Amino acid sequence: MERRTKIYEGKAKILYETDNPDLVIQYFKDEATAFDAKKRGIIEQKGVYNNRISSVLFEYLKRQGVRTHFVRQLSDREMLVKRLEIIKVEVVVRNMSAGSLSKRLGFEEGIALAEPVLEFFYKEDALGDPLINDDHVRLLGLATPQEVRAIRKRALLVNELLREFLETRDLILVDFKLEFGRHHGQLLLGDEITPDGCRLWDKQTLEKMDKDRFRRDLGKVEEAYQEVCRRICE
Ligand code: TMP
Ligand code: ASP
Repeated sequence: MERRTKIYEGKAKILYETDNPDLVIQYFKDEATAFDAKKRGIIEQKGVYNNRISSVLFEYLKRQGVRTHFVRQLSDREMLVKRLEIIKVEVVVRNMSAGSLSKRLGFEEGIALAEPVLEFFYKEDALGDPLINDDHVRLLGLATPQEVRAIRKRALLVNELLREFLETRDLILVDFKLEFGRHHGQLLLGDEITPDGCRLWDKQTLEKMDKDRFRRDLGKVEEAYQEVCRRICE
């Protein structure tokens, strides 16, 4: 599959057109940002690990009947995906308190939540991706009520499936972010599923094995991505 014109460059990925208008190439970079890109850095080989991790997890979800944009892995840093009209909502699912939930609700980090908590954030850098509710999604015209219902259901199913899978790899899925989009009117899971957008803790030691190591300067960042890749992909 030939890479053509660049369509879009984000903080961690680049999208390229292909000779098929329905398909695009998603290229994974080593660049990392945090706190609305106020903090920037490079995580060596992150692109390679994230491409591999995402490919394995999308394949797994596909086998479980979840419709995603993933077609196949093309190379170390590239995957072929279906072209999406992205829905500008970041869908976060949480199983344990951490990050912005801890801050917003005054929960100390690491408390198991009785039920998964689902949140929507408006994907708009200029506003700092604010937390929004269903009414805001409707007000902004981001998705129809039917789409919102489908997104909720799909995100909670993905949570159950990923939790189960990661548990067998000795990883706790603390929380994660998903993005959805439309492909010829069909709702598909898009973007990536990687330690950039998931909080993953080691089951035994509760050690953080995700981008929080970069956000909080905890050290051993590359090692964490490499280890997650080893556990998930081997
Ligand atoms: P939060 O606790 O900062 O709201 O993050 C919740 C989850 O969403 C966490 O697993 C990291 C992921 N996330 C992203 O993928 N992109 C972002 O811009 C932010 C803020 C969080
Ligand atoms: N990637 C996001 C940013 O640069 C935030 C994050 O993941 O913490 O703003």
